[in-house]
Amino acid sequence: MRKKIIAGNWKMNKVFSEANQFVDEVVGKVPDSDNVEAIVCAPFPYLASLVEKTNGSKVKVAAQNMHFEDNGAYTGEVSPVMLKDIGVSHVVLGHSERREYFAETDETVNKKTHAAFNNGLTPIVCVGETLEQREANETMNHVETQVKKAIEGLTDEQVAETIVAYEPIWAIGTGKTASSEDANDVCAHIRNVIKEVTSDAIAEKVVIQYGGSVKPANVEELLSQSDIDGALVGGASLEAESFLQLVEAGTK
Ligand code: 13P
Repeated sequence: MRKKIIAGNWKMNKVFSEANQFVDEVVGKVPDSDNVEAIVCAPFPYLASLVEKTNGSKVKVAAQNMHFEDNGAYTGEVSPVMLKDIGVSHVVLGHSERREYFAETDETVNKKTHAAFNNGLTPIVCVGETLEQREANETMNHVETQVKKAIEGLTDEQVAETIVAYEPIWAIGTGKTASSEDANDVCAHIRNVIKEVTSDAIAEKVVIQYGGSVKPANVEELLSQSDIDGALVGGASLEAESFLQLVEAGTK
């Protein structure tokens, strides 16, 4: 059975003291279960401190983005080598906000997935359609293209380790959640696409999260679906209590 992965994406929220306090609150309370993994996706300046605070606990720390080069003249960027060096384990790639506001493309996402694996980081690759695309029945095609491009050139073993987060853009921060059946249909399609590119056995290993207005009240229903293996959560991950409830739901 695939384990559930609950990741809290703080986006550009919290000051340093709040970030540390959050982690101090959750480390001792995260359920001691092999069925679920908890990840906090935090702003760059907090990562080293959070890694230290979560050391030896069940909580993992992720960056929300990175550059694909190991080092060089890229003012203002953070490299995979730097993230690995301070003990970060995961990195969110291709979030729709990065695609929309920071010119992230399928091509740069692909370079970044390779860079992540080359440096021992696990990528959480985000895909998802706009409302216009959904209304034009383009969801499946769009998501298929994004997934295929993101994993292009990876080994089967790397694909198996990739976490895919299906986040319909119209459901992000809007309070509108995709129905669990609709979300599951897209997640199942993503698994089929991965199957086509690799094999049944590899595709069955891939953790596929849903994201978009996930909260304690709807998470169990979403996680009960056949192809939804976790959640990437924005707003409802900002409070420790709420985050813990989401992680708890993953143990069931
Ligand atoms: P919300 O949970 O706030 O809708 O955000 C989802 C998201 O974008 C997580 O990456």
